[in-house]
Amino acid sequence: MSKVNEGDYNGIREEIKKVLKQPGYDDGSAGPVFVRLAWHASGTFSLVEHNGGSNGAGMRFEPESVDPANAGLTHAINFLLPIQAANPWISHADLWTLAGVTAIQAMGGPEIPWQPGRSDYESKEAATSHRGNVGDRLPDGAKDADHLRQVFGRMGYSDQEIVALSGAHNLGRCHADRSGFDGPWVVNPTRFSNQYFKLLLTRKWKVREWDGPKQYETIVAGTRLMMLPTDMALIEDPKFKVWVEKYAADQNLFFKDFALAFGKLIELGVDRDDTRFAKLVNKAAAEGKPLDKVSPPSGGCPFAGALKRDAKL
Ligand code: HEM
Repeated sequence: MSKVNEGDYNGIREEIKKVLKQPGYDDGSAGPVFVRLAWHASGTFSLVEHNGGSNGAGMRFEPESVDPANAGLTHAINFLLPIQAANPWISHADLWTLAGVTAIQAMGGPEIPWQPGRSDYESKEAATSHRGNVGDRLPDGAKDADHLRQVFGRMGYSDQEIVALSGAHNLGRCHADRSGFDGPWVVNPTRFSNQYFKLLLTRKWKVREWDGPKQYETIVAGTRLMMLPTDMALIEDPKFKVWVEKYAADQNLFFKDFALAFGKLIELGVDRDDTRFAKLVNKAAAEGKPLDKVSPPSGGCPFAGALKRDAKL
């Protein structure tokens, strides 16, 4: 990989584009697993505890690194390692989120606002003391609409945003050796579009007969496509379904709403100060407040204090 001048994030985007093509891996692209890495790095955020989230790259440490929900993300991390090795000035947290937004756009999706400034926890102990490496916060595909509202509600998302974000299942596939589920959602899983919503509404989905977890299937042009129980919840629940219908009918609307919701996702808990760097010291914890008693932030920066940003792993 090439060395890029410090602070040249467009240069890093170009480096990410170079590793997107991965013949022999899945559908030939690292794009979908980069999107999932950015989402899982960010989706641990808790509005109440004000911890988790992409800042800190806590997924490098247990328990987040061994959370079964994150199985397979080592592929994404490993595809990006040469870029990080050639450019140690960029934090893992910035690189993972930038890889997600770069991949979405390269696969035909919308441009998503992205800002640098995330820091990396320098050790497992640093991450743990802020509960920045929490496991067991990501959604379970075997569950229902209530579960989705509970998990995404913790991050501050509405029904509309939950549906928009779920449209990322236009990309990639399930792997039986990772989640237990199997197969892609759409025929062309490396092209970002609103196909997922169209298929949800127009196909007849039936429960797959196999010895794996409950999932739904249909065959399109000889390809077996799948839906998770949580995907089906988007058309079973009337409030979600309204948005599935809107996004199936209007790809521009989907792209616009997806870009907003994904842009918000990768910013969750990233509290920049006037130096533009997001610090990792949890003010509430530093003051000795029990984290379960911390109120949702009402503005201002709940993380204060300094941490050496360029700490090596
Ligand atoms: C709504 C709740 C969600 C559930 C229950 C869920 C569940 C899953 C599961 C079980 C897989 C398969 C993992 C594997 O076997 O490799 C998967 C893959 C994926 N998910 Fe989700 N997900 C959800 C939301 C999201 C969101 C919000 C995004 C991004 C905005 C996203 C992006 C992806 C992508 C791109 C893949 C494909 C990864 C690959 O091809 O390796 N998902 N998801």
